Amino acid sequence: MASSSSSSRVSPVRRALLLSSFLFCFLPRHVAAGATGAGGYVTVSTNGFADSSATCDEPAGPVIAPRQRNGTLAVLRLAHRCGPSTASASFAEVQRADQRRVEYIQRRVSGVGSRGAKGALQQLAAGSRSATVPTTMGVGTFQYVVTVSLGTPGVSQTVEVDTGSDVSWVQCKPCSAPACYSQRDQLFDPAKSSTYSAVPCGADACSELRIYEAGCSGSQCGYVVSYGDGSNTTGVYGSDTLALAPGNTVGTFLFGCGHAQAGMFAGIDGLLALGRQSMSLKSQAAGAYGGVFSYCLPSKQSAAGYLTLGGPSSASGFATTGLLTAWAAPTFYMVMLTGISVGGQQVAVPASAFAGGTVVDTGTVITRLPPTAYAALRSAFRGAIAPYGYPSAPANGILDTCYDFSRYGVVTLPTVALTFSGGATLALEAPGILSSGCLAFAPNGGDGDAAILGNVQQRSFAVRFDGSTVGFMPGAC
Ligand SMILES: *[C@@H]1O[C@H](CO)[C@@H](O)[C@H](O)[C@H]1NC(C)=O
Ligand SMILES: *[C@@H]1O[C@H](CO)[C@@H](O)[C@H](O)[C@H]1NC(C)=O
Repeated sequence: MASSSSSSRVSPVRRALLLSSFLFCFLPRHVAAGATGAGGYVTVSTNGFADSSATCDEPAGPVIAPRQRNGTLAVLRLAHRCGPSTASASFAEVQRADQRRVEYIQRRVSGVGSRGAKGALQQLAAGSRSATVPTTMGVGTFQYVVTVSLGTPGVSQTVEVDTGSDVSWVQCKPCSAPACYSQRDQLFDPAKSSTYSAVPCGADACSELRIYEAGCSGSQCGYVVSYGDGSNTTGVYGSDTLALAPGNTVGTFLFGCGHAQAGMFAGIDGLLALGRQSMSLKSQAAGAYGGVFSYCLPSKQSAAGYLTLGGPSSASGFATTGLLTAWAAPTFYMVMLTGISVGGQQVAVPASAFAGGTVVDTGTVITRLPPTAYAALRSAFRGAIAPYGYPSAPANGILDTCYDFSRYGVVTLPTVALTFSGGATLALEAPGILSSGCLAFAPNGGDGDAAILGNVQQRSFAVRFDGSTVGFMPGAC
């Protein structure tokens, strides 16, 4: 992007609110292969439909991830906050935040304004008038966080995992409200860390910030990141020891020490950026861990996933597709979606509809498809589920294919599978097909705009990135 210091994310709290009280928490173990010849249906118990927002777990502390090894962190869904301070937001508001992130990504990928983006936002705003505000909706279930230790002595920080941005940051002292919002962990104090140092203005690390550089303060390098929804963070670019696990550190981790944040970031202490540019953690850790990383985003509040820097070293066992780059947005992990099947049947979509590529993003919630592809998916899904006679339910914001499953103990769904260039297929489990009882996909701005693979559809898969491929493996967390 020519002249903006923006990156693609929206205020995490807003996008974190999505759907939680309606989410169908299908568990993989409830999934049984359907009896149809094509193997195109799954039968799931509605026991898994329990309202997870009724719980108010604190985010767990550092959790030993399965297959713990060096470079591995537990990834958790941020738990709901409890008590009178619990924020709530309408479903429509959360969807708008997700939509803003999507449009932002599309603008960056295309290098220009996204066709149809305005229309989509207007449509959403119109739809929101009839949306109700669910009081049980909590903050955070659509955010994925890890807990790291920063500085010496180490201070625990709970940071959001974001493949769609490049500059990591945490809130730093000195910082008082409203410049800093209140967070649940101790505020990081660089003055109390024996290993912290501010990046000097003339340093390479400072000039490498490029669009995120924000002048000199004293002799210290300033940074600013402005996000897609108008929120931002600004402060001093510094370095310190980042401990992923005991004895498992990135010695000189460059990050933004945020002295002023605007917008709502409730629930996180900062952000762990895993984008493709040189300042991201993934790039900084490449020397120690290699450029490979992988994660699994848990479907359930109570489950832990993982983020692994440096592994697995082999893509064996992963269905891989080639990694592409959008020239205007080198931050993003782009792949080429080539086809969709519903109920085991390929849906007819012209290849040109997918030509804008697909961004794999942990920060977008609902997967966005080119309108032609979405229309074909929707039509095939509606047709395939029709014989089961589930009553339809009103559209819910951007989700327009909804059902009332409340009278059913078990429901049967047509499977949905996404195929990528080279044949890699993401065969979605029920939690990747439905949210709020609705088909969990939405159209993007226009055919040829970038599609986005959101975190709902990535859940429970191991997703592995190396310099040339993105790979998927089911059932990993
Ligand atoms: C993990 O890192 C520690 C400290 O750097 C090292 O002693 C240990 O051998 C490493 N373990 C593995 C499995 O690489
Ligand atoms: C951050 O956002 C606030 C609110 O929109 C704005 O007033 C402020 O100027 C922004 N700061 C920077 C550094 O962009």
